[in-house]
Amino acid sequence: MKSVDVLIVGAGAAGLMCAIEAARRGRSTLVLDHSKKPAEKIRISGGGRCNFTNLHCSPANFLSENPRFCVSALKRYTQQDFIALVDKHRIPWHEKTLGQLFCDNSANDIISMLLRELEAAGCKLELGTKIAGVTKPDDRFRISTGTGEISAQSLVVACGGLSIPKIGATGFGYEIAKQFGLKTIAPRAALVPLTFSDANRDLCKKLSGVSVDALVSFAKTSFREGLLFTHRGLSGPSILQISSYWQEGKPIAVDLAPTINVFEHLKASRQTSPKQDIRNTISAMLPNRLADELGTGLKLGGRLADLSDKVFRKTAEAINSWQITPVGTEGYRTAEVTLGGVSTKELSSKTMESAKVPGLYFIGEVVDVTGHLGGFNFQWAWSSGHAAGQCV
Ligand code: FDA
Repeated sequence: MKSVDVLIVGAGAAGLMCAIEAARRGRSTLVLDHSKKPAEKIRISGGGRCNFTNLHCSPANFLSENPRFCVSALKRYTQQDFIALVDKHRIPWHEKTLGQLFCDNSANDIISMLLRELEAAGCKLELGTKIAGVTKPDDRFRISTGTGEISAQSLVVACGGLSIPKIGATGFGYEIAKQFGLKTIAPRAALVPLTFSDANRDLCKKLSGVSVDALVSFAKTSFREGLLFTHRGLSGPSILQISSYWQEGKPIAVDLAPTINVFEHLKASRQTSPKQDIRNTISAMLPNRLADELGTGLKLGGRLADLSDKVFRKTAEAINSWQITPVGTEGYRTAEVTLGGVSTKELSSKTMESAKVPGLYFIGEVVDVTGHLGGFNFQWAWSSGHAAGQCV
């Protein structure tokens, strides 16, 4: 039977970071992944350019049953630490918007960097390896694979969430947690487009391809970023962000012109341009196709001078506080992340080790810590991987 100090399941962002740190400390470390290639999610991330971290990363950018859980790991391995690693490998990068850092060339630069670090640290990587089961008959773990049994002192579960099953996502991490009696928070697709039915779906279909700067809110949470109409519903950064907060059956509020108080603007325009048609006034605030559709939907028309405050109020409401109830999301097929996961109550926030099962660690997306859109999920993978790598 093969024997190692540390066995890591999952050669994604968190698993590779943890492996590098553990092997650097002299721990014999093996990473297993059932996929044929490592870090497939890094490869497809950020439109192929990997939004690898965010300059403004802080605990406020994460959702979790315990919002303070991420504090320690994020503090001990920060965005600046990861940027230093990227710079050490002379990988060119740029800030796109809102502190989001992307590779200039390709996400493959980040994968190559991690693999070079892994090799330099002396860590082994076995791909295309299926895991049949895990037991802990004594103080060590036994992992059975298609090619034999492995004994490990520490077992790190870094196999991510359920999003994008096509490239290897599985619920294996949740199953291991359950097997060892650890509580999990029900997983749910997040950072995902929202879908609609009936008239709203038809409207989205008609406007498919139109994008607009919007302020999208659910309860007390708001995001001001792009919104995109699609054939099935709404997408774009602001919608992906709010999808992590949205609760089924409830509406979201959309401000399609967040810099304009439409009611006041219409009243002022009635004074300055009384002969202007209201449809022209709203065309100046919104993309043409959206303004047209809205004008038709609200049966708008006529000179501003001839229109009442009531009409202005109805128009303003449709633009500044459009209430719309999604029927669902596009699901794991397109979701960037999975909300929920292994409960933070089960883990040490310093080491990511299970309190109930010594030697068992969970890192990255499989844990109930989910970042906003913008490089935060990778920063959590780096930080939690690093935290575990110091202790395994
Ligand atoms: P990750 O999913 O990366 O890795 C898990 C590994 O475990 C995989 O290699 C998988 O094959 C393996 N595995 C799973 N089940 C297994 C099993 N049963 N046996 C063996 N191995 C198994 N975030 C961000 O910050 N910036 C960005 O630009 C993007 N962009 C982005 C685009 C798209 C399309 C998606 C889907 C996601 C993003 N993300 C992102 C999110 C980010 O990719 C994600 O949060 C991290 O990859 C999570 O890292 P982990 O290492 O935890 O899991």
